[in-house]
Amino acid sequence: MLTPIILAGGSGMRLWPLSRGHFPKQFLTIQDDGLSLLQHTITRLNGLEHAAPMLICNEEHRFIAAEQVRQLGVAHSGIFLEPVGRNTAPAIALAALKAVEQGDDPLLLVLAADHVINDNAAFTQAVEHAASIAQSDKFVTFGIVANSPETGYGYIKRGDALSSDNSSNATCNDALNEAFVVDQFVEKPDLATAQAYVESGQYYWNSGMFMFKASRYLAELNTHRPDIYQACVQAMAIQNQDLDFVRVDKAAFEACPDDSIDYAVMEPLCAKASAKESAKESADVVVIPLDADWNDVGGFAALWQVSAQDANGNAFKGDVKAVDTKNTLVFGEDKLVATVGVEGLVIINTKDAVLVAHKDHSQRVKEIVNQLKADK
Ligand code: GDD
Ligand code: MG
Repeated sequence: MLTPIILAGGSGMRLWPLSRGHFPKQFLTIQDDGLSLLQHTITRLNGLEHAAPMLICNEEHRFIAAEQVRQLGVAHSGIFLEPVGRNTAPAIALAALKAVEQGDDPLLLVLAADHVINDNAAFTQAVEHAASIAQSDKFVTFGIVANSPETGYGYIKRGDALSSDNSSNATCNDALNEAFVVDQFVEKPDLATAQAYVESGQYYWNSGMFMFKASRYLAELNTHRPDIYQACVQAMAIQNQDLDFVRVDKAAFEACPDDSIDYAVMEPLCAKASAKESAKESADVVVIPLDADWNDVGGFAALWQVSAQDANGNAFKGDVKAVDTKNTLVFGEDKLVATVGVEGLVIINTKDAVLVAHKDHSQRVKEIVNQLKADK
C-alpha cells in the first residue's frame, strides 16, 4: 500500500512577511477556498488508494500542524517532530525507518507540503503510474516541463523511454503518459546552466515529489551518505510518543548533518546510474512527466501567478483601493492599502511588517530575512 510522507518542515523565507519562522509558508492559506497549502497536500490524496499519511515537521509547529490536520478530519499515522530542521534527506529517513520498523516495506510517496497543483486528476494519474513502476524497486521522480531557467529547482535529464527505445529525440513536451530513464540530476544549477538545459528541451524540473520503497531509500542513503543514515538510525533508537506526536532522540538528531534528498541522494545516485554501460541497468531511476498545473510558490512572483487576477492582472487580498494599477500583488491584512499609477509591484501589509518590492526582484526578499536574522 502507498504511504504518503508529507514534508512540512521548511521555512519558506522568500514569502516573508507572510511566511514567518513561527508560521511558515506550508501553513498559509493562499488560495480562495480557505485551505492551507498543507491541507491541500493532504486533500490532493483523495483520488488515490493509500495508507494513512505520515507528517514530518518541526517541533515548534506541532500545534499548527495538528490543528490543520484535525480540521480536515482525515486519519493520519502520526506527526513526526524534528527538534531542529536538518533538511529533507534526514526527514525522509525518519519516515522510512518508521515504516520499516512497523514490519512493512511500503512504497513511500514523498510530497512537499508547499506546492499548488490545480489538476488533481493529472496528479492522481501520474502517482498511479509511478506506483506501478516503483513496485519493482525503482526510484521514481516526477518531472515538470522546464519552460524557464529557474535556478531554485533541480533539473532531471530525460533518457530513453522505459517502454521503447526510439523516443530519445523527442522533447519533454511529448509523451506525457510515458516514463523515462533519468540520465542526470542536477540540483539548483547556475543561471547559464539552467538556460542551456531549458533550451535543450531534454530536462524537466524536479517537482520535489518522489516514490520508492522505504528500504530502497534507506539503502541509497546508507550508500551515499552513511553519516546521515547512521545519525537517523540513532535518533530513532529512542522514540517518545504523546498523543499523535512522535519525537526522536534530540541529541542524536541534532548531530545529524543537514542536507536535502536532492544533493545527498539524487545527484550521486543518478551519476552512478548514468556511468553504467548497460541502459537496462541504469533504468533504475525513472522520471514520470507531471502536467498538473504545478507551482511551488517559491516567491511572490509565483504567488501572483497562482492567485486570481482581475482584468488588469492585479491580485488583491484584503481591503485594497487601486487606481491605474497593473500586474500588482497586494495582501492587505489589517488596513486599507491604496495604490496609484504603479505596475508590477508586490505589497504585503501584515500587522507588524510591510514589504514593498518589484515583482522581478521579489526573490531577493530572503536578503531582508538574512538581515533581520543578523540583527537579532
Ligand atoms: N520535515 C522537514 N524537515 N521538511 C522540510 C525540511 C526539514 O528540515 N526542509 C524542507 N522541508 C520541506 C519543505 O516544507 C517543503 O515542503 C519540502 O520539504 C521541500 O523543501 P524546500 O526547502 O521547499 O526545497 P526547495 O523548494 O528549495 O527544493 C526542492 O523542491 C523543488 C521543487 O519545489 C528540491 O527538491 C528541488 O529539486 C525541486 O525542484
Ligand atoms: Mg520548495
